[in-house]
Amino acid sequence: MPQNRLRTVVVLAAGEGKRMKSSLPKVLHPLLGRTLLGHVLAAAAPLAADRTVVVVGHGADQVRAHLSEIASEAAPVLQERQLGTGHAVRIALDAVPDVLGTVVVLNGDVPLLRPETVAALVEAHEGAGAAATVLAAQVPDPTGLGRIVRDAEGRLEQIVEERDATPEQRALREINAGIYAFDVARLRDALGKLSTDNDQGEEYLTDVFGLLRDAGEPVAVHCAPDHVETLGCNDRVELAGLRRLLRDRVNEGWMRTGVSILDPHTTWIDVTVTVERDAVIDQNTQLQGATVVGEGALVGPDTTLIDTTIGAGARVLRSHAVGAQVGAQASVGPFAYLRPAARLAEKAKVGTFVEVKNSEVGAGAKVPHLSYVGDATIGAKANIGAATIFVNYDGVNKHHTTVGEGAFIGCDTSLIAPVEVGAGAYVAAGSAISQDVPPGALGVTRAPQRSIDGWVARKRPGTVSAEASERAQRAGEDASGGAGAAREGD
Ligand code: UD1
Ligand code: CA
Repeated sequence: MPQNRLRTVVVLAAGEGKRMKSSLPKVLHPLLGRTLLGHVLAAAAPLAADRTVVVVGHGADQVRAHLSEIASEAAPVLQERQLGTGHAVRIALDAVPDVLGTVVVLNGDVPLLRPETVAALVEAHEGAGAAATVLAAQVPDPTGLGRIVRDAEGRLEQIVEERDATPEQRALREINAGIYAFDVARLRDALGKLSTDNDQGEEYLTDVFGLLRDAGEPVAVHCAPDHVETLGCNDRVELAGLRRLLRDRVNEGWMRTGVSILDPHTTWIDVTVTVERDAVIDQNTQLQGATVVGEGALVGPDTTLIDTTIGAGARVLRSHAVGAQVGAQASVGPFAYLRPAARLAEKAKVGTFVEVKNSEVGAGAKVPHLSYVGDATIGAKANIGAATIFVNYDGVNKHHTTVGEGAFIGCDTSLIAPVEVGAGAYVAAGSAISQDVPPGALGVTRAPQRSIDGWVARKRPGTVSAEASERAQRAGEDASGGAGAAREGD
């Protein structure tokens, strides 16, 4: 698309979205990695507009705060009372009195719109030298939408809101998607002439088309390639429908680039995620935020990854990860929980019922079962026995533990930070280690064991344990006596 044109983008986002029944403004509801507003801004991004204006009203502070996070170049403009889409655009243009060229207006609640479709609309509009061009679509059910009314020659005559339409007009299935391109000078002029003579007493942006046409200006219709792109969102049922449609679009996109998605209906991938070739995503898996899944990695089933990087050939099974990095060919799960800044090096293993936070697990190191690893550095090829706890928190501060390369931590051990276990050192199972263990040493804090003979018979008579121990003792006596008898019988 030629970049020598001047363009302004206006997004209408002041409405409340009553039917969402939410304290969150409608345009801030999330949909696979972006808000509704975020999707609309992303669809307009390739236009490389000089100015982007977002009309805010309901929940203005929330919408402004969100904009400053996702599109700081966009200028919010307050529409205090929602007096109609025409009024909203008028206010937006008042905020940018100097702009020239094309103004692209988008409803803030059309999240499936593709950038290619917006670009094609603008190209058609500019190519034809039209005063105004509307994006239209043929839909199976036009209920509630503005209808495109054409004259006998098939040219746009006007756009009529459903509540203002005649029965014949209501029967039309060609609808206004709420996406438009205008020549700014002629748009400003027409906006000044809008009336509120309609069922809602509002200034309708759509009336600009009839006004321009009546003035002999060229107005045009551009048809969307797929009506699904033009679907708006009015309540949470529709939002869920849009989410399913976007899920399918995203999953199909990845499958066509060489990713296997075993059950696309239960795989939800945010639009912000990257998945490399030959990765396999098993069923019931969510990939969210800035997650990256490397080539040939296996993820799922039953896995959620948020802002997490999975290296090539790694395996993540039935696990939950947030802000973690998993190295190439590492193995995670089943039932692991990786928290922010969990960093697993190549071929590391974090196994069943293991939680890792802000820790490095070295190359080839293993934490196979039932452990908590917090604020630690674990060297390459170290082995952390089952039920090892990195005791990192003293109630006030967090402390660091270092386990050297090739160290071996016996099962059911507490490593009480700050503490260091040297390279190649061993820690005996069941120890509570609060002092450094030098490289190659054995750290052990176990109390010596005593076995008190006959304790069960004396203290727990009549229990299953007492009966079992009696049987075992008898069997032991028979075995020694019986062996002698057998010899005698030879
Ligand atoms: C509008 C169109 C309709 C089209 C439909 C597509 C008009 C008059 N009608 O109808 O032809 O088929 O969109 O979805 O434009 N908004 C403001 N300020 C206002 C009013 C609305 O910012 O004063 C914003 C809303 O937040 C929303 C967008 O404009 O993002 C559309 O408003 P909405 O009330 O949903 O218009 P519809 O009645 O759906
Ligand atoms: Ca609407």
